[in-house]
Amino acid sequence: MGLVSTPERAGVLFGQARLLYCATVLAAIDYRWWVFIHLAGVFGFLLAHGASVSALFRLRKERDREKIRQLIQFSGSTIRLFYISLLVLVVGGVGAGLQGHWFKQKWIWEAIGVLVVVTLLMFVVARPYYRHVAEATELRPSGVPRVSDEDLALRLESPIPAIVTLLGFGGLAAILWLMIFKPM
Ligand code: HEM
Repeated sequence: MGLVSTPERAGVLFGQARLLYCATVLAAIDYRWWVFIHLAGVFGFLLAHGASVSALFRLRKERDREKIRQLIQFSGSTIRLFYISLLVLVVGGVGAGLQGHWFKQKWIWEAIGVLVVVTLLMFVVARPYYRHVAEATELRPSGVPRVSDEDLALRLESPIPAIVTLLGFGGLAAILWLMIFKPM
């Protein structure tokens, strides 16, 4: 009773050593470098996601199926860079948060909450909308569109882009406000 077997103890020791290593690395990197990494991630995020944002605005007026397909493909081609930037943004933010002892305050948790909620809503609203529009650009083997021009126009004129814009810019504004004003 109460005795920990050798492999278990080794596991605990290994875990503690890893924690100590992480804490040392965290402390060794200057706070400003964590902020630098965080902001570099934010710039990458905005640049990469800007393609999806521009495509969203452009799509509303476009009726040429080939151009619509190209716009959606272009947006899709930036998603990898978008996710890499998101990872850099999060790593830098967590590093700065830990070193600056910000995790004791509510605002940083609220900012993370907004980021998570907007991300989830994008999966539920923005992504399916692009798939739905892309589907309407497909042609049958005979060359006839699978979906009528009227249905395509209806999909493009749906309120979804406005909702995505509101969610996206609203989320960005909320995160920015929390980061700048740091309400306790
Ligand atoms: C906090 C800000 C934002 C976050 C965290 C976010 C996150 C995401 C995520 C995770 C996706 C799914 C990417 C995928 O398909 O794997 C996505 C897609 C998308 N987002 Fe955002 N987004 C933000 C802001 C915005 C803004 C401001 C707009 C437009 C005004 C926007 C428009 C779109 C569109 C159109 C897509 C679909 C892209 C595609 O499937 O190719 N987002 N977003």
